Amino acid sequence: MTQPTRDDRFSFGLWTFGWQAQDQFGRATRSPIDTVEAVHRLSELGVWGMTFHDNDLFPFESSEAERRSAIDRLQGALADTGLVIPMVTTDLFSHPVFKDGGFTSNDRDVRRFALRKVLRNIDLAAELGAETFVMWGGREGSEYDAAKDIRAALARYREAVDLLSEYVIEQGYGIRFAIEPKPNEPRGDILLPTVGHALGFIETLAHPELVGLNPETGHEQMAGLNYTHGIAQALDAGKLFHIDLNGQRGVKFDQDLVFGHGDLQNAFSLVDLLEFGSPEGGPTYTGPRHFDYKPSRTEDAEGVWESVRANMRMYLLLKERAASFRADPEVQEALAAARVAELAEPTLAAGEGHRELLADRSAFEDFDAAAYFDGKGFGFVRLQQLALEHLMGAR
Ligand code: GCO
Ligand code: MN
Ligand code: MN
Ligand code: MN
Repeated sequence: MTQPTRDDRFSFGLWTFGWQAQDQFGRATRSPIDTVEAVHRLSELGVWGMTFHDNDLFPFESSEAERRSAIDRLQGALADTGLVIPMVTTDLFSHPVFKDGGFTSNDRDVRRFALRKVLRNIDLAAELGAETFVMWGGREGSEYDAAKDIRAALARYREAVDLLSEYVIEQGYGIRFAIEPKPNEPRGDILLPTVGHALGFIETLAHPELVGLNPETGHEQMAGLNYTHGIAQALDAGKLFHIDLNGQRGVKFDQDLVFGHGDLQNAFSLVDLLEFGSPEGGPTYTGPRHFDYKPSRTEDAEGVWESVRANMRMYLLLKERAASFRADPEVQEALAAARVAELAEPTLAAGEGHRELLADRSAFEDFDAAAYFDGKGFGFVRLQQLALEHLMGAR
């Protein structure tokens, strides 16, 4: 069960295993990986899909012929292996032109250039059959409050997403957009910093049905938030279009560790939610299981592929642990004692409204609130202990 297959729908960004490990303090520690070789390697490991930014595949400065040859080489490798491209995204952060953002740069010419770069890349996404187009606005933000009119920036962000939505509708592309929130890094403060901010923004768009989320584990956790909660709210809103799985330990810089190598408890509850969280106990999310991590700077070429394997193995092990948690009769009993299922029951009876509730003496006048003092515990600690014992393989 912990051997990945295509049916697991695991995908990796070309920029993840392909990262040469340059950072703020030092230069690269690894050589570039050839895309065609990478596709073959991924396929051998049981990976289903690969994703990329335009400039992971071909440099910003490429001529049309160079761009085409990179695309053709990729398509050849896809045909040879059966790997798919479920998601494509645009690099609006690496080149100096985007130092103040793409869609929300104060410079209008840069905004128009950014839109053209994305439109061109949407055509490529459609050509490769991608269903999701991710928008991570890493440079959309500011360091200094006086430097950016945030309401104007949000208006320009909206203008951009509306234009791109109209384009995919008019072209008849089967593409949906997924906004990826992040609180900071590289900007001091990034626009749409969390799942909640992005959900609010989506409702203001001209075509909200075309726009959802690509929440990343570490990005919510960098803000001290519970990623599983964020994913649950995205599911509740029907907006979990894509997912970026990785590992993060606490409120600090974006670590991009292997999935599960950060907050393991939260990774466990996440996999449980994704795989077994529907009311029938089935999956709540059927899209790609996409990893956006970085092989640590200490790893050599083989270590990179070891880390690719580690992401998938962590996911599958957590899926196995979550299944064993759910199947344990003692857990079932603890869940019942904790009244977890009772929350799914509507608070009002069928046909009941405020009048009927006001007339119900048992709801207030005769309700025994005192019984909650030194009585009526929920037993959540016992449930958590059982969860951790399953996570640890102790049960
Ligand atoms: C980051 C982001 C990016 C995006 C990628 C796809 O923190 O660097 O997670 O890796 O996911 O740009 O849009
Ligand atoms: Mn990240
Ligand atoms: Mn990401
Ligand atoms: Mn990242």
